[in-house]
Amino acid sequence: MRYTIKTNCCVLLFIALSGLAANAQQRLKPKNGLLKTVKKSLEESAVQYHFLMKKLPADRFPVTYYSKENKMISSGSEPWVGGFYPGGLLYLYESTKDTLLYNEAIRKLKSLEKEQYNKTTHDLGFMMYCSFGNARRLMPKKEYDQIIINSAKSLSSRYNDKVGAIRSWDSDAARFMVIIDNMVNLELLFAATRLTGDSSYYHIAVKHANTTMKHHYRPDYCSHHLVIYSPQTGTVSKKQTVQGAADTSAWSRGQAWGLYGYTVMYRETRDKKYLDMANHIAQFILKHPNLPKDKIPYWDFNAPGIPNASRDASAGAVICSALLELAGYAAPKMSKAYFSAAETMLSALSSPAYRAIKGENGGFILKHGVGNYPRNADIDVPLIYADYYYIEALLRYQKL
Ligand code: GLY
Repeated sequence: MRYTIKTNCCVLLFIALSGLAANAQQRLKPKNGLLKTVKKSLEESAVQYHFLMKKLPADRFPVTYYSKENKMISSGSEPWVGGFYPGGLLYLYESTKDTLLYNEAIRKLKSLEKEQYNKTTHDLGFMMYCSFGNARRLMPKKEYDQIIINSAKSLSSRYNDKVGAIRSWDSDAARFMVIIDNMVNLELLFAATRLTGDSSYYHIAVKHANTTMKHHYRPDYCSHHLVIYSPQTGTVSKKQTVQGAADTSAWSRGQAWGLYGYTVMYRETRDKKYLDMANHIAQFILKHPNLPKDKIPYWDFNAPGIPNASRDASAGAVICSALLELAGYAAPKMSKAYFSAAETMLSALSSPAYRAIKGENGGFILKHGVGNYPRNADIDVPLIYADYYYIEALLRYQKL
C-alpha cells in the first residue's frame, strides 16, 4: 500500500495548522523564572550524567540505583528501558553540546542496534524510537532510517488483525495480552510510514489505538493496565491492572502512557477523536481528588495509604511532557490549564524534592520513582525513564 496525501489538502492543512500554532504560541508563554530553572536543570542534568556514565559498565544500560547498597542496577539492551539512556543523552547533547555525552550516546546506540530484529517484545517504540528517533532527528543518516524501519517491521509482526492490536506480553500464547503502555510504541510506526511510504505501519497504529480506546478505558477515561483478548476471535476475556493497586484502580504510569500515546496519535493523524481522548484523559488526571498539589501523582491514584503513599516521579515526568505537547493542540481554556499544570510539575521535578544533588542518586537525575509496586520492585528509586521524560519536558518548555 502506498501512502499518498493530495498536495492541495496538504497546503490547506499546513495553513490551518500554522494558524493554530501561532495562536497556541501566544497562549503558551514560558515564565522567565521557570525558564532559568529549566536551563539550570538541563546544565546540571548533563553534569549529573557524567557521574552516571562513570559508574556504568560498558555495554550495559542504566535502570535504577539502590542507595542503601550504593548499587547501580543495569541491564543489557533487550529490556524495555534500553532506549532511554541514549535518548536522554542525545537530548542533553542537543541542549548543552557536550560531546562527552554525545560519544556515550553513540556507544550505547551501537550496543542497542541489534534489537531492531527483536520480535519478542512490543517495547520497540520505547527502545528504538526514543533512541534512534532522536539520533535521526539530530544527525539524519540512512543507517538510522533503516534501523527505524526494521524496528517497525519487527513491531508490526506482533499485530493481529482479528484483535486489531499489537501483542504486548508473550507469556501465554492462548491469551492475547495488550497493556496500555503499548500506546507509546506507536510513534515508531508513523515514522516508518514516513520513511518508506508504506501505509501499513500507519494503519496498524490506528487500529491498535482504536481497539485500545474501545476496551482499555472505563467510562471515566481511566485506563485498565491489561486487556486479554482471544487471539482467534478478538473477544475480550479479562481486564486487569497488574502494576496497579487493584484491577479497578488507576495505575498512574498507565494513565500517563495513555495521555502521551493519544497526544502522539493526534499529532500524527490530526484525527479529532484522538484529541478528544487525550483531553478526557488529561481531565481525569488533573481533576482527580488524589492528585497532590505539586501534581506529581502517587504511584496509583487509588494507592492505599494516601497521603503517605509513594509518589511516582516517572508518571509525573511523562504526564508533564505530554501536557506540554497537548497544550499546543487543545482549545484555549484547556490549553491554559494543561500548560499551567505542566509548569507546576516542571517546577516540582526541578526542585530538591525530586531532582538529585550533583553526584548523588547514583548519577540519575530524578528521585522518587516507582517501578512495580505489587511486585515490591523498585519503590521510591530513580528510574531511567523518569529521567528521559523529564529531560524531554525541560527541552519542550525551553523550545516554546
Ligand atoms: N512499560 C513498563 C512500565 O511502565 O512499567
